[in-house]
Amino acid sequence: MIKRVPTGIPGFDKMVKGGFKEKSINLVCGPAGTGKSTFAIQFLVNGIIGFNENCVYITFEEERNQIISNMLQFGWDLEELEKSGKFVLLQYAPEMVKELVAEGGGVLDETIEKVKGKRIVIDSISSFSLLYQNEYERKQACLKLFELIRRWGYTAVFTAEDELVHMENAISTELEFEADSMVFLYNAKTKGKRKRAIEVVKMRGTKHVRKVLGFDITEKGIVINPNDVVEV
Ligand SMILES: Nc1ncnc2c1ncn2[C@@H]1O[C@H](COP(=O)(O)OP(=O)(O)OP(=O)(O)O)[C@@H](O)[C@H]1O
Ligand SMILES: [Mg+2]
Repeated sequence: MIKRVPTGIPGFDKMVKGGFKEKSINLVCGPAGTGKSTFAIQFLVNGIIGFNENCVYITFEEERNQIISNMLQFGWDLEELEKSGKFVLLQYAPEMVKELVAEGGGVLDETIEKVKGKRIVIDSISSFSLLYQNEYERKQACLKLFELIRRWGYTAVFTAEDELVHMENAISTELEFEADSMVFLYNAKTKGKRKRAIEVVKMRGTKHVRKVLGFDITEKGIVINPNDVVEV
């Protein structure tokens, strides 16, 4: 029996037999502004509120305060969740994580130990991997990061910019093979209008929906419409 970790994102869990696999590493990929960070944080907030699972969010990109105020618009009070001890938001320079990964966890290990969480987000793996000069180094660093997450036993979402995953190089291929699942977010242009869509490209051990489905970013976050099949 595979244990599932529901995202609680309306419409998503039904696409994937109930949620991500427990302790799996999942890539959420897409170009700028497609909703990767929103998806990732919604997965964490629902984990805390709906399933009493503590969570860690590590960002290399956006300012902490920006994230907090943006997410407040969806009714997600990240500061409040932090105060309750159920959530940790870490803003790191990618260089720092480079060090931590090289050390095999370092201070991050202590935080992870203290939180005793179940869900983690790395936003984004692209900015992390771009720190490394050549493909071999990138691949090794990403594998080390994956190893760390697997050791912690968290269910993880890594966001990734589209380009990285589509680039014809070793790191992208390696990432795709190492990850347990891949979800694509689109901002498709049809008839002069942008339309958001989501697709599960792969999920190990899971008979998932293979349609590209439309979604909206509403005042409560991402909502997928299971009846809206989109051409991308
Ligand atoms: N309160 C809101 N209500 C509806 N839509 C919103 C709201 N806030 C942001 N959006 C939409 O969500 C998009 C940003 O989503 P998000 O930051 O999750 O994307 P991203 O893929 O992480 O982007 P990036 O690649 O820049 O990190 C915005 O460009 C906007 O279109
Ligand atoms: Mg983002």
